[in-house]
Amino acid sequence: MISLTDVSYAYPDAEALTLEHVDLEVERGSIAGIVGASGAGKTTLAKIIAGFIPHADGGELSGTVRVDGRDLSTGSLVDAVSVVGLVIQNPFNQISGAKYTVREEIAFGLENFGTPRDEMQRRVDEVAALLRIEHLLDRSPYALSGGQQQLVAIASMIVLRTPVIVMDEPTAQLDPAGTRMVFDVLSALRETGITIVIFEHKLELLQQHADRLHVVADRSIVLSGAPDDVLADDRLAQWAVGTTRYVTAGRLARERGLLPPEVPLPVSFEQAERVFDRERSVR
Ligand SMILES: Nc1ncnc2c1ncn2[C@@H]1O[C@H](COP(=O)(O)OP(=O)(O)OP(=O)(O)O)[C@@H](O)[C@H]1O
Ligand SMILES: [Mg+2]
Repeated sequence: MISLTDVSYAYPDAEALTLEHVDLEVERGSIAGIVGASGAGKTTLAKIIAGFIPHADGGELSGTVRVDGRDLSTGSLVDAVSVVGLVIQNPFNQISGAKYTVREEIAFGLENFGTPRDEMQRRVDEVAALLRIEHLLDRSPYALSGGQQQLVAIASMIVLRTPVIVMDEPTAQLDPAGTRMVFDVLSALRETGITIVIFEHKLELLQQHADRLHVVADRSIVLSGAPDDVLADDRLAQWAVGTTRYVTAGRLARERGLLPPEVPLPVSFEQAERVFDRERSVR
């Protein structure tokens, strides 16, 4: 569905490449989680997958970026926005500034695509129910908390029903309950065949919901794999990427001789429960 091959990129007037030799494959109807330290190039990569780079931000892009069979590096931004929705990192910047109510704000993109009025209403109501923001529909987009703005920004992308949605730290402003809800919505969207790329620091949720994880470091994607394998990888610390608390507990237990080296590190709560139960019964 998404295929980046040997992609390199430099911002306009930048001396050095921000990304270099990036390869990425994301299957249709899957959730890809992308992690990386602050400044590693996650937002840059998100914009490349969504076609904003190079069409809006300029700069020098090389390699190929294929999304849903289209080559985004050569096509237009209009081409790109019909296949990929991008939820940008700061929800405040996503608000169009052209609309007085949240309802109109969410409908803004549909309006631009010329969607009939009654269908537009129906889809806005549907997405508002999904994200539990019905009570905000008549409010001003500017009279919202950061978390509420974030949900509105997510709603205005989901409502477009693009085959691919790219989200750049979409839960940064949300509380734990809001965060879990967003991940549940993403899993439900995946069931409908939508492909999701999420840049996120909340690793335990990625472990539960993502099909694959990819690590951005050293200007490239340095590791891709099943979430459990990636999160247990010893090299994460060297790339300034954290891991789950269960991996950390497993490592401490190993250091203290409580967990033999041949036992794989637990990544989730369920795995930790199993591993420590077994070790206890062996003793
Ligand atoms: N418009 C720009 N022009 C020049 N350099 C830029 C521009 N935007 C970002 N950069 C540089 O590109 C690198 C990667 O930035 P990017 O925003 O992609 O990282 P990030 O992983 O998203 O960081 P964060 O976790 O803080 O969101 C940084 O060194 C940054 O300074
Ligand atoms: Mg970023």
